[in-house]
Amino acid sequence: MQTKLCKIDRTNIGASTDVLKEASAILRDGGLVAFPTETVYGLGANALSAEAALSVFAAKGRPADNPLIVHVARPEDAEAFAHTTPLYYRLAEAFMPGPLTVILQKKPIIPDAVTGGLDSVAIRCPSDPVAHALIEVSGLPIAAPSANRSGKPSPTTAAHVFEDMDGIIPMILDGGESDVGVESTVIKLDGEGVILLRPGAVTPEMLREIVEDVRISSAVTEELGVGEKPLSPGMKYKHYAPTASLILLDGPSEAFVAYVKEQAATGFCVALCYEEETEALTAVPHLSVGYRSDIGAQTHRLFRQLREADALGADYIYAHLPTMEGGGLALYNRMIRAAAHHIEKIGKKVED
Ligand code: TXA
Ligand code: MG
Repeated sequence: MQTKLCKIDRTNIGASTDVLKEASAILRDGGLVAFPTETVYGLGANALSAEAALSVFAAKGRPADNPLIVHVARPEDAEAFAHTTPLYYRLAEAFMPGPLTVILQKKPIIPDAVTGGLDSVAIRCPSDPVAHALIEVSGLPIAAPSANRSGKPSPTTAAHVFEDMDGIIPMILDGGESDVGVESTVIKLDGEGVILLRPGAVTPEMLREIVEDVRISSAVTEELGVGEKPLSPGMKYKHYAPTASLILLDGPSEAFVAYVKEQAATGFCVALCYEEETEALTAVPHLSVGYRSDIGAQTHRLFRQLREADALGADYIYAHLPTMEGGGLALYNRMIRAAAHHIEKIGKKVED
């Protein structure tokens, strides 16, 4: 299959009506279209078609019990597909359109293939204008996981999607780089409270401004125990992993620099270092993740840099273990999973 890459100007969607119509026709025929969202690129299919959903799992090589998110144009459009609650609307008012996914009881119109047989469905209303326009023009709810092959880092550019999906899907809409860089926050409503299943740009602190009771699922920061059943099927799978082995170093900057230099002498590695460390690491292949305090930049760059380090041919990637605090939870969650929980303590920990 020939994969068509079509550029769309996010700031002038009107100029791309023809491309959007072509993409919509593919979706209505049960085909797949990759499209940008504010978080990462999605691999879209008609959410009302079981066959279309099954072809998403096939294209990604994804286990069939890991459910897909259904994307809608407006929060109230969820009514047709799920049982909403007043709490859903309070959260929607605060965070939609935007990087928040809410799990609700599903209505029968959503095929079991989309939800992996669960009686709940994940609803998300993306803020990206291309994603919004595709839902509007197609007139369909769009089931979309991240547009990577299962287990790989999620794509934040159309080129990343092309790397993983060339020859597998008919069309990729290229709207430029995704803003956030990691997938949406996923929450489950639980009475008057919420349970955070996957951290993202909508942080626990932000959620607590709307809901008092925000609990964080232990799978966000911990490794699942043997035989333990996660609240979200996606949590049990290996995720976001580059081909190289990623190792997270827990310790001060001087120890990081010394450790990486030592490792570079024995094999090919790439360091994901802070901007402040680039001078000390000129002799070692490195990519700057941004300034130490700039968690937004580090999050934005993570998946792209894991792919870049792979492209450089690294056997090992060394990175700092990020903080869980101050908006760092999403970055921490993705990094420990990309590293398969491989963390090394280095140097003496300085208290700051
Ligand atoms: O930002 C995003 O959410 C991106 C863009 C494309 O919208 N999508 C995305 O989809 O990350 P995916 O399929 O890669 O991740 C969806 C996560 C999985 O961990 C899945 O297990 C969980 O959401 N999920 C989906 N439906 C669920 C449900 N009914 N119950 C529990 N977890 C669910
Ligand atoms: Mg994914």
